[in-house]
Amino acid sequence: MAQVTLRNVKKSFGTVDIIKGVDLMVDDGEFCVFVGPSGCGKSTLLRMIAGLEEISSGELDIGGQSMTNVEPADRGVAMVFQSYALYPHMTVRDNIGFGLRMTGHDRADIAARTARAAQMLQLGPLLERKPSQLSGGQRQRVAIGRAIVREPEVFLFDEPLSNLDAALRVQMRIEIAKLHQDLKATMIYVTHDQVEAMTMANKIVVLSAGRIEQVGSPLELYHRPCNQFVAGFIGSPKMNFIPASVVSATAKEVELALPGGTVKIAAATALKRGDKVTLGVRPEHIMLTDKSKANLAAKLRVAEYLGSETMFYATLEDGTDVAAKADGLAKAEIGATLNLTAPPKACHLFDGAGRAIHNGDLSR
Ligand SMILES: Nc1ncnc2c1ncn2[C@@H]1O[C@H](COP(=O)(O)OP(=O)(O)OP(=O)(O)O)[C@@H](O)[C@H]1O
Ligand SMILES: [Mg+2]
Repeated sequence: MAQVTLRNVKKSFGTVDIIKGVDLMVDDGEFCVFVGPSGCGKSTLLRMIAGLEEISSGELDIGGQSMTNVEPADRGVAMVFQSYALYPHMTVRDNIGFGLRMTGHDRADIAARTARAAQMLQLGPLLERKPSQLSGGQRQRVAIGRAIVREPEVFLFDEPLSNLDAALRVQMRIEIAKLHQDLKATMIYVTHDQVEAMTMANKIVVLSAGRIEQVGSPLELYHRPCNQFVAGFIGSPKMNFIPASVVSATAKEVELALPGGTVKIAAATALKRGDKVTLGVRPEHIMLTDKSKANLAAKLRVAEYLGSETMFYATLEDGTDVAAKADGLAKAEIGATLNLTAPPKACHLFDGAGRAIHNGDLSR
């Protein structure tokens, strides 16, 4: 088993800096998820760990060994891509064993490893089929099988489920989580899917433009984002950001004027009267209330009745758009005024540079 350590890892393509200095430790056996906007460098980082892309500067260790002069095949890593890239003319069995045949493993060993992987992935009955005779989910399982038989210490997954439909994604997500429990290997997994990131990860790494914004457990990032970028990136629908100004502040409490009322937050800050801040509150924490208790006056633009919940999209009197998640039985007319309240314990505060100056304390 293996720890993966990156120290000040950088990557440039020509004169363009893509990865701008990444320091990260992925512990042995950990399930680490990379998230970030398209083009931020997630695949490039994975490919550098796999050895498919050269590192421009910095250090990469796997299992305590420097990988500087180690070939991809000798790193003890296996990568699973979004496109399954199976050989169409080979059976499932031959696709799974192909890499081992290339590296000269003996036939009995290949057969035993293939059988074990097939059992783990429930591919036993499909071993003699060709890829064209498989569903998308089954093909992706073959691609994972091909990685498993190599018995890597580190699995690298680059959006392996994004070509699958919603139901299959859920099933494969559970299967990969189980695989992680069974194999106890280190896994690094790239996804755009919030639910995959939150449910599979021990550790989430939020990337933006080639840098790490924050590293933490899923719930740490959800409850204690260090800046507005992470706050807006983790959680779906995303956190609401509302301009606010400080009415009064003491060492223990700050009172803010919002579009439609005020809120008093127990927070130790250096804020003073007149300061401008951004208040962050998640749609699931905003509440519908009576007019007398509301601190956000909103006009309803769109309502989505999802059965289990109702999503209200509304505009505050200063023009800021907000989303509020309500009970599935909640109803309102388009254009009506919604009396909303941002509960003090759920409020985050960000300064002009987007840094968190206070996180809500719902989780404490
Ligand atoms: N071979 C290359 N030559 C030049 N630029 C490249 C090369 N490969 C990637 N890039 C650039 O590096 C940046 C990061 O790309 P990368 O594929 O790592 O992003 P990503 O985070 O995986 O995005 P996505 O979520 O869309 O898959 C992008 O701006 C991309 O255009
Ligand atoms: Mg990518």
